[in-house]
Formats: sequence, structure tokens, C-alpha cells
Amino acid sequence: MAPLSCGLDFGTSNSTAGLPAAGGGRLVPLEGEATTLPSAIFFDFSTREVLFGREAIDAYIGHGEGRLMRAVKSVLATDLIDQDTQLDDRRISFQEVIALLLRRIKERVDLAAGSPVDAVVHGRPVHFVDDDPPADARAEAVLESIARSVGFREVSFQFEPIAAALHYEAQIDREELALIADIGGGTSDFSIVRIGPERARRADRKDDILANQGIRVGGTDLDRLLSLETVMPLLGYRSAMQRRDLTAPGSYFRDLATWSKINFLYARRVIAEIVQVRREARHPELFDRLLTVVENNLGHALALEVERGKVALSEAEATTIDLSAVEPALGARIDRADLAAAIVEPVERVAGCVRVCLDEAGLRPGAIDTVFLTGGSTLVPAIREGILATVPEARAVDGDRFGSVGLGLAIEAGRRYGQA
Ligand SMILES: Nc1ncnc2c1ncn2[C@@H]1O[C@H](COP(=O)(O)OP(=O)(O)OP(=O)(O)O)[C@@H](O)[C@H]1O
Ligand SMILES: [Mg+2]
Repeated sequence: MAPLSCGLDFGTSNSTAGLPAAGGGRLVPLEGEATTLPSAIFFDFSTREVLFGREAIDAYIGHGEGRLMRAVKSVLATDLIDQDTQLDDRRISFQEVIALLLRRIKERVDLAAGSPVDAVVHGRPVHFVDDDPPADARAEAVLESIARSVGFREVSFQFEPIAAALHYEAQIDREELALIADIGGGTSDFSIVRIGPERARRADRKDDILANQGIRVGGTDLDRLLSLETVMPLLGYRSAMQRRDLTAPGSYFRDLATWSKINFLYARRVIAEIVQVRREARHPELFDRLLTVVENNLGHALALEVERGKVALSEAEATTIDLSAVEPALGARIDRADLAAAIVEPVERVAGCVRVCLDEAGLRPGAIDTVFLTGGSTLVPAIREGILATVPEARAVDGDRFGSVGLGLAIEAGRRYGQA
């Protein structure tokens, strides 16, 4: 019998897993009924429990006695992946943290499949690491060894946008030249593919893949930039010191605005430094707010509020980032123009990446029939517009924002390993 197989989209922000099924794939419930699992893990110091997903985030916000980790996929692209990090009274390696998440996902997959699933097609960004093929290969090798350590015997990879293309292909009834745009929490990935019902039946699809490109820009970068422009100035960022021409050091604010660095600020030494900066500041009341954040471990809660504000702007013209946890009635009023202004640089990089992808495929923009949009960050109006502007004649198709990659990986798993 063919090994039971699955597709696994381990995302920077959200993960999904799919099983091959007739006519495509089906996503597995990973947390209650939900088929997405936020890629978050919480180590509760008082109960010594390890929580995942929404439960992890809720527990952290509920009392905060512990350590929340998000966006650990991005650690695969850095030297941190060989290091460990402090929990309450022990240390844990980043590889172990990722293994805990993958093990938890595999348990749910095994449950849904009815027996242990041996083979996995893992999604991967086109580039884990920009412009560094050896480092990129290493990131994939580390992820492969982690997948093996949680019990997958056969592990192979597929580019995330190619997976999304396979999911889209199952829905169309004529041939198309499509640009697949997958903008997630950590990376922006593009593929240009020829797809269609007849091509879908071919065993070898190499000739149908015209180009793949990707960069390390995603929703967590948008959060950071929005935070630095709209929230951090309320905590002292860019504010004046008493000495002429000096502004406050920016590193505290950049760390506080960056998901993976928030914990750096909670060190006693850092708090002592900030107390010193406050003494020399022209507006010490702003640094009182910063101290409230670091002394009460409010960094992740603040980052979640910023992310919530960004998400709200996908629907509404304006919103308020609630900062009442820092100071009663404090908030940052923001509108779409503020967000667009904060993210000009990443939007331009994303558009530039599409142009490189078109060049690699040897195509003019007018040749593209369809742009298939997936990944949560394609909901940001400025990102969506930035992509569509590069191929103005193409038709935009909105994919299953959080499910397309996982479903496409499930289709690929069925093709590579067969269905049970
Ligand atoms: N409605 C929305 N508007 C804007 N951004 C959104 C919306 N919903 C989710 N996001 C953002 O989308 C990102 C997550 O998208 P997604 O789940 O596709 O990423 P991922 O697959 O985990 O990441 P990656 O593929 O880069 O590893 C987050 O940054 C989140 O803030
Ligand atoms: Mg993704």
C-alpha cells in the first residue's frame, strides 16, 4: 500500500495541513474546528504547559507568566536556528520549538487520517534566505531533519506558490498563463505557470513552470513599519534628548516593533538602560510609557494590537490602535494612507520581485492572463494594488487566502506518494 501522505504548509503566521482526497485535497482541523493553526507557541511558566495556536496567544494575553513565540519559521533563515533561548529555568533550542509545533500538527493529521502518516510534502518559500543559495539549502535541510524527528519517514518539498497554483488549477476549465502571488507573514513568493485541466493530467510539469521568485518581505515587516511610524513615537521613538541635536536611541523601538526581538527588551540590563535614557530625555513622560511596556511584558500584546490595526484597514478606511494597556485612553488613530506611507518600500520590493519573475519567464506583463492572490498580506490594499499594477491587463482571482497552499500541497502529496 502507498504510504499515507499529507501536505504541510508550515507558515510564518499560520500553518495548515491537507490530506489528498478525490478531486483535490482536504484540510485537516488543527485547532478545534479551525483548519489553520497560528504558528504560535506559549510556554506557561506557572503550569509548565506548552500551548499552541490561538490558545497560546489567548493564554499569553490572559496572564503573560511565560514566554510567547511567534514567527519561528523566519528563524530558519538566521544563525539563531543553531542556538537556544531561555525559558523559565531551562533553555530550549529553536529547532526544538519548531519540532514542538510540527509534532502537534502531525498528531492532528494522524488523527484525521486514521493512522500515522509517513510521507509529507512540505511547503517552502522560493527563498528562505535572499541571495545566498548555500544558506537557503541549509534552511531546507534543517526543516527536513526536524520533519523526520517528528516521525515523517519520507520528506520532500514544493515551492509554496507552485502548491497554490495546483489548488487554483483544480478550479479552472481552460488553459491560462497565471502569475501566482503568495504574500504571507514572512515571505512574498511568485510563480508564473501554465495551467489547465489537460495539463493537470501530465506527469511531468517542468515545462509548465516558467519562473519562480521570492523575497523575505511579509506581513510581519508591515507590522514593524506601521508600529515604528504610528505607535513607537508615542513611546519616545525619534523624540529629542536634552542635549541639543540628539534623539533617543532607536534600537529599543526597533526591537519592540519586531516580533522575534521583543523578548530582548525584557532583560534587566535593558530596562536599566531605558531608565537612564528617560533621565536624559526632553519628554520623559514618553519613556514612562516605554517602561510600562517592558516592565509589564506588554510587547507582544502591543504588536498584536498593531497587527489588528493593519488588518482592520483592509476593510475600513480608518481605525484606532488600542494602547489602553499602556496608559488609560491612549490610542493611535491611523488610516489607509498612513499604512500605505509606512510600507512604500516593501510594496516597491514586492512589485520589483514580480518584474524580475516576468523577466525570468521572458514575458511582457501583457502576456499574463490571471493573477492568483493568496496569503493573508494580499488583503492589504497597497500590496494588492502594487502587484496588480505590474500586470495591469491581467484578471485578478482571489484565492483561499489561508488554505490554497496547504490544499495544493495535499494534491502534490497524492501525486508523489499516492493515496492510501
Ligand atoms: N485581513 C487582513 N488584512 C491584512 N493582512 C492580513 C489580513 N489577515 C491576515 N493578514 C496578515 O497576513 C499574514 C499571514 O498570512 P499567511 O497566513 O498567508 O502567512 P503564512 O503562510 O503564515 O506566512 P509565510 O507564507 O510567509 O511563511 C500576517 O502578517 C497577517 O497579519
Ligand atoms: Mg504562506
